[in-house]
Amino acid sequence: QSNFNQKIDYVFKVVLIGDSAVGKSQLLARFSRNEFSIESKATIGVEFQTRTLEIDNKTIKAQIWDTAGQERYRAVTSAYYRGALGAMLVYDITKRQSFDHVTRWLEELRGHADKNIVIMLIGNKTDLGTLRAVPTEDAKEFAQRENLFFMETSALDSSNVEPSFLTVLTEIY
Ligand code: GTP
Ligand code: MG
Repeated sequence: QSNFNQKIDYVFKVVLIGDSAVGKSQLLARFSRNEFSIESKATIGVEFQTRTLEIDNKTIKAQIWDTAGQERYRAVTSAYYRGALGAMLVYDITKRQSFDHVTRWLEELRGHADKNIVIMLIGNKTDLGTLRAVPTEDAKEFAQRENLFFMETSALDSSNVEPSFLTVLTEIY
């Protein structure tokens, strides 16, 4: 997979955004390293991970950026969004407020990112289905209205993590 001499055809920058504790860093850990930690600490500043994969016989390096959901830990916003071709806007299906804040995140995203950016709305933590506070249908309708892709995922049990990132990367391509 990670051949040292691998020729990279494209580098795609994708940013993760959404409230604190919705699971952005764990979605990234699952996608880039197939890892998950229940003791994940709040992100401070900006981090990124890469994963190289094949799409349509081209070698794509996905460079996924992750920042703090908490305002006080966030780095300069314009730098974070600069050059991003995709965005994963994450909420927690068990926290209504994290879904209500999606409109704010979308405003910030649309204010700073390229207008052609591919946006995926993600309802994370489907493994906690019994605690669900956001009906799938509400999020689906919202996504349709706002022209976003939409998927529900679980970083814990891996469900839909790979498809959600792959959809964004394929749409960019
Ligand atoms: P900030 O860095 O503060 O913005 O938070 P974050 O969005 O990066 O959240 P993080 O990935 O650190 O996850 C927060 C908590 O939720 C941690 O305890 C994770 O283990 C947990 N978590 C993340 N994804 C899932 C999931 O799919 N299911 C469950 N049950 N817990 C999850
Ligand atoms: Mg984080």
